[in-house]
Amino acid sequence: MSLKNWDNKTWLSSKKYIKSFNNFLLKQIRLNRESQILDIGCGRGKILGFLYSKLRLKNKPIGIDIETHKDRDKRINFKKIDAIKYLKNNSKKFDLILIKQTIHLLNFSEIKKLISLCKIKLKKEGKILIFSLETSKNEIPTFYLMKKRLKTSLNRDKKIITFLSKLYPNIKKKKFSFKVKISTKRYMEMIKNRYISTLLSMSSNQILRGIDEINLNYRKILNFNDKLICLILNK
Ligand SMILES: C[S@@+](CC[C@H](N)C(=O)[O-])C[C@H]1O[C@@H](n2cnc3c(N)ncnc32)[C@H](O)[C@@H]1O
Repeated sequence: MSLKNWDNKTWLSSKKYIKSFNNFLLKQIRLNRESQILDIGCGRGKILGFLYSKLRLKNKPIGIDIETHKDRDKRINFKKIDAIKYLKNNSKKFDLILIKQTIHLLNFSEIKKLISLCKIKLKKEGKILIFSLETSKNEIPTFYLMKKRLKTSLNRDKKIITFLSKLYPNIKKKKFSFKVKISTKRYMEMIKNRYISTLLSMSSNQILRGIDEINLNYRKILNFNDKLICLILNK
């Protein structure tokens, strides 16, 4: 099963989120009209689309993903290809390589390969920005089984962060947080659509029971912080 519903009309594709995320991004790296940008695992490409307009980029930013979305942002140069395959067969260099909430979908040897290839593809002052869920004080609303699976997944994320910090001791860590306000009804739909990878392997029954649990345990409106860790790597 694939992650088609990740940013399908969720807060992750809202104007407010995209704007706030890009503001954070632009604080970490100086970009201009000439900048060459690559987003690995770009989904619908909304983040890149916003950057294209905001910076009035000369060249469309490149977004790669193994999934095609019919409603993807038209301001990006989209390629349906596996990240490692793309990097191996391309000589382009980038000022920014963004890897947002995608690295956890790879195994450790793929991660090592991916980041070493990204480093080669950076321009002199270029940066790689890797975002993944905050591992310790995560506030994502969950039901029992989802919480258990999320915990396992976040433990693995912790290992990925340690792994990368050992490989690249100069790596910097920052935090991004976004205040989410969403109706429980809408959030239950997101769960039904398996918006996050921890839900992908659950049976339909497990999802239905989970939705009931959420309905019972949470108020009508959910307020929480969507928190990310940002790892920054230079050339
Ligand atoms: C959780 S989504 C994140 C989407 C987007 N970066 C965001 O934060 O809104 C992860 C994305 O990575 C893509 N993906 C997974 N493995 C990939 C690979 N090997 N190469 C390229 N994209 C991949 C998935 O198809 C999915 O769209």
